[in-house]
Amino acid sequence: MIFGATGDLANRKLFPSLYRLYKKGKLANFAVVGVGRRTLTQEQFKQNVVNSVSEAIASSKNDDLETFASYFCYHSHDVTDSSSYVELKNIADELDVKHSLNGNRVFYLAMAPEFFGPIAIHLKQDGLTEVKGYKRLIIEKPFGHDLESAKELNEQIRTAFSEDEVYRIDHYLGKAMVQNIETIRFSNAIFENLWNNRYISNIQITSSEVLGVEERGRYYETSGALRDMVQNHMLQMVALLAMEPPIKLTPDEIRSEKVKVFRAMRSVEVDEVDKYFVRGQYGKGLVEDVEVPSYREEQMVDPNSNTETFVAGKVMIDNFRWAGVPFYIRTGKRLESKSTKIVVQFKDIPMNLYNRPNQEITPNLLVIHIQPEEGITLHLNAKKAGQNMEATPIKLSYANTGIAGINTPEAYEKLIDDSLHGDATNFTHWDEVALSWSYVDKISQAWEQTPATQFPNYASGTMGPKEADELLEKDGFFWWPVNQFEVDVC
Ligand code: BG6
Repeated sequence: MIFGATGDLANRKLFPSLYRLYKKGKLANFAVVGVGRRTLTQEQFKQNVVNSVSEAIASSKNDDLETFASYFCYHSHDVTDSSSYVELKNIADELDVKHSLNGNRVFYLAMAPEFFGPIAIHLKQDGLTEVKGYKRLIIEKPFGHDLESAKELNEQIRTAFSEDEVYRIDHYLGKAMVQNIETIRFSNAIFENLWNNRYISNIQITSSEVLGVEERGRYYETSGALRDMVQNHMLQMVALLAMEPPIKLTPDEIRSEKVKVFRAMRSVEVDEVDKYFVRGQYGKGLVEDVEVPSYREEQMVDPNSNTETFVAGKVMIDNFRWAGVPFYIRTGKRLESKSTKIVVQFKDIPMNLYNRPNQEITPNLLVIHIQPEEGITLHLNAKKAGQNMEATPIKLSYANTGIAGINTPEAYEKLIDDSLHGDATNFTHWDEVALSWSYVDKISQAWEQTPATQFPNYASGTMGPKEADELLEKDGFFWWPVNQFEVDVC
């Protein structure tokens, strides 16, 4: 059951992902009930499904699409009305018999977060969670607005579902190269031995976007980049980079290692936020040669808004492995390019025989290219061709193009598939969510107490405010220009 079936997420991501799974034969017995507020006929809804899949997947074929859509039905629903849930239960019970679903039921909440708690409570009260098979709840972000509201939401959903039935989506955990962080670290002797404060000087994670807030001004005004990107995607990547090797690759073991990282993150007190975090808001500018408005001019945005559309921060992890190594994170809207990359910068060699005046040797870097291109580049130094003993930077490159032309699955496809198999590895556990909120809450409190005076402080199409550069300069580092690194595709 997809709640929010007429919404943007369902149309852009969920229907196409389900179609891909269907085409791969991974949905044997299934039926989808789309639940939404709007009044639609069954035919209109099925047509929506066909349209959204054919827009997203150019290779989809009409006949297949018609058959695929025949597994869908629509229920126009009032989320606050018990009788509407009773109707929904009757539909689900009928489909269960018709499609031999063994009483298994998955509820996907892809809608406004204020409804998450009330829906979960109704599902229980009105009998939808009484199933013969398994029941699972997939819940989109944001999971609360701060620790307090996240706790409240968690209590509400836990009245109907146990922790191991709850699949909290962080779609970055479904990205192939985010999942690759563990493989790169734990299957290569050459990296894991160097993966600590003796050999790594700093780690930089950049997730930049070209788009502005689009039509999401109302939500974004209450969230900002800190809650929208840092509390979840950015800190999850930090946790994967920093965690100890789990004893097994099971969800519980991985989570317990990630939780230790969150616990070791140095808490940034309200009065020292400026030392560790920088905020920004985009002004007008040129993005891909097109003039774009400032954030304050966007729809549903306060013309004096204090909301940040950019965050850069220095996360310190106070444990044996990472003491003294800054994890710099940076994310923002209306930046120069759409790109997510992780740069692991190794320490300089103890004595450099190859330094020449005006020619310092480049540190070794391991770059994990999360998107848009996927891959790994390792930046080393080697002898320059010719007679001289000069060192020059070289690059070893791996492109994650899949095998024999099979594309790596998209994040949502992978995550839906995992949840259907009961694999919660790439979903966030309540402990991680709670700890990441308590880390972020102090920063947002500080920013709420002292509104930014300089907003907007970066022009669209740049890489954010100058303070983000100064954050690293103070420590003797600089942001590696992410566009400089490219994966070579053969
Ligand atoms: C979402 C945020 O979680 O992630 C959006 O709400 C952001 O504001 C998006 O644009 C970025 O995801 P991706 O996969 O495009 O990097």
